[in-house]
Amino acid sequence: MNQPLIVARPGDLVPDLSIVVPTFRERDNVAPLVARLAAALDGIRWEVIFVDDDSPDGTIDAVRQIGARDGRVRAIRRVGRRGLAGACIEGMLSAQAPVVAVIDADLQHDETVLPRMLAQIRAGAELVVGTRYAAGGEASAFSARRSAMSRFATDLSKKFFTIRTSDPMSGFFMLRRDVIEAAAPRLSNQGFKILLDILLTSGSDIRIAEVPYSFSARQHGESKLDNQVLVDFVGLLLSKASGGLISIRFVLFGLVGVLGLFVHLLTLRIVLGAGGSFVLGQTAATIVAMTFNFVVNNFLTYRDQRLTGWAMVPGLLKFYAVCGLGAVGNVGVGSWVFHETARWWVAGVAGSVVGAIWNYLLSRSFVWKSKA
Ligand code: GDD
Ligand code: MN
Repeated sequence: MNQPLIVARPGDLVPDLSIVVPTFRERDNVAPLVARLAAALDGIRWEVIFVDDDSPDGTIDAVRQIGARDGRVRAIRRVGRRGLAGACIEGMLSAQAPVVAVIDADLQHDETVLPRMLAQIRAGAELVVGTRYAAGGEASAFSARRSAMSRFATDLSKKFFTIRTSDPMSGFFMLRRDVIEAAAPRLSNQGFKILLDILLTSGSDIRIAEVPYSFSARQHGESKLDNQVLVDFVGLLLSKASGGLISIRFVLFGLVGVLGLFVHLLTLRIVLGAGGSFVLGQTAATIVAMTFNFVVNNFLTYRDQRLTGWAMVPGLLKFYAVCGLGAVGNVGVGSWVFHETARWWVAGVAGSVVGAIWNYLLSRSFVWKSKA
């Protein structure tokens, strides 16, 4: 990526910098953020793109109200979708400027360092990370628990991958638009860790710079980061470790499947212990395990397309049907492999893997109707 950076000439209508702000329930932060950006970016031609996942608090109206009088303020309203990473990707891909920044809406990131980040890009960097973990940076606004989680995630990813920045978990960064255009097809829409994904996807020859900032406390609204973010994060690492061959969703689906196996064995044990026959035990265990898998996948793996209320009933029935056919495939493939190799465990694993892939692909499109 060595093309020169295009810089607009006076009179051009394109901005120099597009700022992407993912939002979910951030109504009260919109106006203060726009005011702060305008103050910090004096002398730079900019636009800001809010990417809102149809927040029930009317965040988008707050953006449109300002946008009606200021063409630099744009909004993307995403319906039927949820997710920080996906929102950031869509925003970045809609940017007009050759340089794009991502910043949180809640005023926790320090917008006054944006001009310094832009200067780094103009000096040759392709990606600039706003870091809390280098000299001059700070994250004292974090609770002890959040701080420990953030450190743990950073250390874990550094153990498995070569990462050339002190803060790969940062939600505050700037990059050349051509970097994101190149990486986009291989990025995951799921999860919070968009910067980490970009780093792991863009390879080792991308030029990275850092600008320290101090992470401040949230003023309005509340954080959306929860334990699911940690689960998605582990999924992202495993997905990237497979060279992107398996998606975060498949990793989660597989992990749930392994848990389901334990539930199956536990149920079987209980029924047998209570004097039931093996056929009864195995039947009960299969139903309990399938129900368990459905509920946990609905809660975790497909949280962004979760079925709720009565829609769970047809969902569960379809899941039974998919898994039933998957079991037939599992036994069929397993028997064939056993016949060919005479190794019971190879046959067992092969059958289960085929069954899991079948269940995943079919439930993805028939039960949860997900596109990714
Ligand atoms: N569109 C959209 N969809 N936006 C979202 C969603 C979503 O599902 N979830 C969160 N956001 C937006 C929030 O509205 C906010 O502007 C921003 O993403 C960050 O969300 P927070 O809930 O405030 O996250 P945090 O403060 O706990 O963590 C942030 O800072 C960390 C440190 O830089 C995130 O940016 C983390 O990724 C980052 O590690
Ligand atoms: Mn925040």
